[in-house]
Amino acid sequence: MSRVIASDHVLIGSEIVPATVIFSVESGKILNIYKEVLSLDSPVLSRYDVAEFRDVSPLHVLPGLVDAHVHLNEPGRTEWEGFATGTKAAAAGGVTTVVDMPLNAIPPTTTLENFHIKLEAAKGQTWVDVGFWGGLVPDNLEDLVPLIQAGVRGFKSFLIESGVDEFPAISLAHISAAMEKVADYKTLLMFHAEMEPAEPVAANATDPTLYSTFLESRPDSFETTAIAGIIGCAAKNPTVPLHIVHLATHEAVPMIVRAQQQGLKVSAETCFHYLSLSAETIPNCSTHFKCCPPIRTEGNKQLLWKALRDGVIQTVVSDHSPCTPELKGLERGDFMEAWGGIASVGLGLPIMYTEGLKLSPPVSLVEILRWTSTNTAKQVGLGHRKGQISVGYDADLAIFDPAASHKVENARTFFKNKLTAYDGLDLQGRVTETIVRGNTVFTLADGHSKTALGGLILEPRVD
Ligand SMILES: *[C@@H]1O[C@H](CO)[C@@H](O)[C@H](O)[C@H]1NC(C)=O
Ligand SMILES: *[C@@H]1O[C@H](CO)[C@@H](O)[C@H](O)[C@H]1NC(C)=O
Ligand SMILES: [Zn+2]
Repeated sequence: MSRVIASDHVLIGSEIVPATVIFSVESGKILNIYKEVLSLDSPVLSRYDVAEFRDVSPLHVLPGLVDAHVHLNEPGRTEWEGFATGTKAAAAGGVTTVVDMPLNAIPPTTTLENFHIKLEAAKGQTWVDVGFWGGLVPDNLEDLVPLIQAGVRGFKSFLIESGVDEFPAISLAHISAAMEKVADYKTLLMFHAEMEPAEPVAANATDPTLYSTFLESRPDSFETTAIAGIIGCAAKNPTVPLHIVHLATHEAVPMIVRAQQQGLKVSAETCFHYLSLSAETIPNCSTHFKCCPPIRTEGNKQLLWKALRDGVIQTVVSDHSPCTPELKGLERGDFMEAWGGIASVGLGLPIMYTEGLKLSPPVSLVEILRWTSTNTAKQVGLGHRKGQISVGYDADLAIFDPAASHKVENARTFFKNKLTAYDGLDLQGRVTETIVRGNTVFTLADGHSKTALGGLILEPRVD
């Protein structure tokens, strides 16, 4: 049985063209693509057992987003988020794959046993496909290879306190030790790249309700110090690819350019919030804007966009990292004690589209989907079947209406804790339907599918 979606705007390769996409409901794969808008009585369609035909013009048919950085927090901190609520929020925004971070769930994904506990918790609760990152902590070097063999897509670690006791930070020396352990396997080592410089600058600000106090407490130099160390590790051992998660400072961009020019395997992502929010407009006491590294200045934001468009930063992700309202502590407005993390899985596409329209030249949907789908799919070792609309690929599709606008409202989000830094923001463009491996999991009109049709991704990386 096949479904057919035609539109005068389908993202194929690096252009948006009229096309008709035929995909199988059983295999979930794209069977064929015709670069014209066919109608149901087109003779070529008679070869397929067509159960449904739709011409959705002028809506755009895009590859589903692959969000490579999401904290679903289940089990253990399911009151913060969970597989069901987190993947429903993803589905509502055209995200068809999320990759779960190893920390903030209890136990963290640092051993095979812990990984099995997480998989058990995820079963039957995923509205989109879910892959998993493992964690690299000081005492689990022997667990890395078994975790790779069990299907984790790579490892995340911290060079500074992670915020949760059960996920301790590692040293630069430990990165080199981990690289030796995994050198014969396809994997990716990723870093929360903040580290105290050898000679820290004294932070003078004391009022914890001012955003500037928080910003001053985690200066750009925390990121450049960590990134210099990571690049040093890449230079010593060029076999294992290293990735910087949530890059927030433009000051590290020249270092990354140099490393990439030297042929070192160093990649970087940034997040929707670093490209859409800036320190100057974050109200004091508004702790729902707290994340680490912090959102920096407007000028910094513009330079991150430039690094992205120059190809130095390859991917954009949510770093969806919610918590309970108590831990966000909005009543107290104390940035220094609030949990750091912004809830945004599923909001990325219209955020990127809205912000991108303000740039000159405006950012195209082709660029946005390259950063949020094609490149993220490659980053997580799924570039052979996700991240593009191509024959043989998974039929993971987002149907997008660029002409629709809407206001983000906390109450209408699908997060477990309905609190986001984007509340009240007017966004241009809206996802009207999301299809995961051939099955519709969300429509704007009818909401989510009754059953959780997403799968758990445990196959080895293809690089
Ligand atoms: C704190 O004050 C000292 C002395 O005025 C200054 O050198 C330093 O740069 C200030 N720290 C920050 C983070 O602004
Ligand atoms: C926060 O408070 C400081 C000190 O009163 C002020 O200078 C700054 O403009 C305030 N920030 C915003 C966004 O209102
Ligand atoms: Zn994170």
